Amino acid sequence: MKRVTVRTMARMKENGEKITMATAYDYAAARVVDEAGVDTVLVGDSLGMVVLGYENTLSVTIDDMIHHGKAVVRGTKRALVIVDMPFLTYQVSAEEALRNAGRIIQETGATAVKLEGGVEIAETVKKIVAAGIPVFGHIGLTPQAVGQMGGFVVQGRDEKVAEKLLKDALALQASGACAVVLEGIPWQLGQLVTEKLTIPTIGIGAGVHCDGQVLVYHDILGLQTEIRPKFVKNFGQFFTPMVEAMRNYAAEVKASAFPAEEHTFTMEEKIIEKLREKY
Ligand code: KIV
Repeated sequence: MKRVTVRTMARMKENGEKITMATAYDYAAARVVDEAGVDTVLVGDSLGMVVLGYENTLSVTIDDMIHHGKAVVRGTKRALVIVDMPFLTYQVSAEEALRNAGRIIQETGATAVKLEGGVEIAETVKKIVAAGIPVFGHIGLTPQAVGQMGGFVVQGRDEKVAEKLLKDALALQASGACAVVLEGIPWQLGQLVTEKLTIPTIGIGAGVHCDGQVLVYHDILGLQTEIRPKFVKNFGQFFTPMVEAMRNYAAEVKASAFPAEEHTFTMEEKIIEKLREKY
């Protein structure tokens, strides 16, 4: 099966075909996303919150991303895999960013990396792209800047920030980014940025006019109940049935109803009798 590439994505934008993206953080989840025919899989640093239980994404390390990225690549045959560069792995210097991006690509087998930020990371993006690594930008509500934003709040409602975001998107494109994720911005701004860019935009809380959409795996499947931003839609409700299945398992074990005969191995009676007599 042929893998989706950044050229496939560019063609999809040209043809007006929507691009699908979902996050995944392990082999099993990646198989579900890939089997469903989702075009791209993001190993998001959201794994810090939905998989590792941190309050935000700031504690996620490059080793975490590589560990999970490898599993996701092993679980996909068709989808293009993108791995997030976590906090402080690309902001210190362009050289350090390139080394870390290279490590992610080399050690996971993923195709691309994603970085949060606009104009301020443009030179870094240029350096990584010059080394042959496809880069996805990410602007708007950028979770690694949660402290600066004062929480996970919608960005770009006022003219000044909206214009900055448009300039950020154009700067990322000029630096060679192959796509830009737009998170938590008004739909009108999502539409404008999408019209002004020749590279695809992937929206999450950025309206229907983006070239594609991304959602977190656990949100799509209704696997987490704690955080529920407005832009999330559950396409399944699997948390409660999973708890119910787990409860039934525990109850059957307590009642000695599991394992039943069909789950059990057997051996010749005379051998066990002999052992019973001997000991
Ligand atoms: O980390 C992540 O999952 C993301 C998406 C929400 C875009 O960056």
